[in-house]
Amino acid sequence: MRQAGRYMHEYRAVRKRVSFLELCKTPEIACEVTMQPMNEFGFDAAILFCDILIPLEKMGLHLEFTPAPIIDNPVRDRAAIEKLVVPDPEAEMPYVYEAIRHIRRALGDTAPLIGFAGAPFTLATYAVEGAGSKNYPYTKTLLYSAPDAAHLLLEKLAQCCATYLEAQVRAGAQCLQIFDSWAGILSPRDFNEFALGYANRVIQLLHDSPTWKESPVPIIYFANGCAPYIDLLKTCKADVLGVDWRVDIGPVFDQLGSKFALQGNIDPTCLFMPEEGLRERIKEVLDGVGNRPGHIFNLGHGILPNTDRERVRFLVNTVRELSAR
Ligand code: CP3
Repeated sequence: MRQAGRYMHEYRAVRKRVSFLELCKTPEIACEVTMQPMNEFGFDAAILFCDILIPLEKMGLHLEFTPAPIIDNPVRDRAAIEKLVVPDPEAEMPYVYEAIRHIRRALGDTAPLIGFAGAPFTLATYAVEGAGSKNYPYTKTLLYSAPDAAHLLLEKLAQCCATYLEAQVRAGAQCLQIFDSWAGILSPRDFNEFALGYANRVIQLLHDSPTWKESPVPIIYFANGCAPYIDLLKTCKADVLGVDWRVDIGPVFDQLGSKFALQGNIDPTCLFMPEEGLRERIKEVLDGVGNRPGHIFNLGHGILPNTDRERVRFLVNTVRELSAR
C-alpha cells in the first residue's frame, strides 16, 4: 500500500522536478515512479501511481496538494451537489489510461498491475470537508441532516468510480482496489448504509458493465478501521478484503475466509522496529493465517514517508523466507 512515494530518494528526486498533480498527469513519469519500488524490491504486484482524488477535479472540485489535499470549493448542500458532473473518464483523464498502458509495457510478464479508486464514502469526505479532518463535522452533518443530498452525492461518486475503474480494466489493469480510508469513522449502521452500501454499488456497476463480460478482474475492498464491521463485511461484493492492523487476522479468516481472500495486515510503523522485532511481527501475521489459502501479505495501511527503505527490503525478503515453509 503506497509502495511508491517519499520514502524513496528516487521518488523525491522526481518530485523536485514536477509537482504531485503534474506527476499524476504525466504518463511517462507516473510509469517511472510506479516502477521504482518494483525495480528496487521486486514486489509481487505493481500499483498504478495516481491518487484517489484525481477524478474529483473532473467532477468540478478544485483540487490542490500541499502535499495534503485541499479543495477550496467543497460541496455542503444539495444545490452544490447537483452541480457536480459525472465525467467521461477516458475523454477527461486520458493520462490515467496512458499511464496504465505504459506500465503494462514496462512490467511485461514480471508482475500484474493493480488499478484503483477511492470508495464513494471516502471521496465524499474530501468533497464535503475540503481537506482531511479529525471529526468530519461537515460530512456527518450532511449524512444526518440532509440524507437525500448525501445519497445523491454518494450515487454520483459511485457512478464516477465505476466508469473510472471500468476504463482502467480496458486499458490493462489486472486487478482493482477500492480504498475506503475513512470508513472507520462511522457507526456500524452508518458504515453499512453510506460506506459499504456504495462500495457495493460500484462493484455491482462493474459486474454489470460490458467490460466485465470479456475481462473480469478481482476486486479488493479496503476499509481502514474495519474491526467493528467484520460481520457486516460478509455482504461485500468484492473478492478480496483488505484488513488494517487493529484486528488479528486469524479470527477474521475464521469469520470471512470461506468467502474472501484477505490482504494485510502489519502496522506500517512496525517498519520502524529493529529487524528482530519486525521479523517477529511478520511471523505473527503469517502464523495467524496458518496454512489457510487466500492470503496476500501487505501492510495494514500506507507506508510512511520516513521509513528506511532497507526495512522494506528486509520485510519483503522475510515474508518470502517465512512463507516458503
Ligand atoms: O500505492 C501507491 O504506490 C500508489 C499511489 C497512491 C498515492 N495515493 C500516492 C500519493 C495511492 C494508491 C494513493 C491513495 C490515496 N490517496 C488514499 C487511499 C489510501 C490511504 O492511504 O488511505 C488517500 C486517502 C489519498 C489522499 C491523499 N493523497 C492524501 C491524504 C495525501 C497526503 C499524504 C501525506 O502524507 O502528506 C495524498 C498525497 C499523495 N498521494 C502522496 C503520494 C505519494 C504524497 C504527495 C507528494 O509526493 O508530495
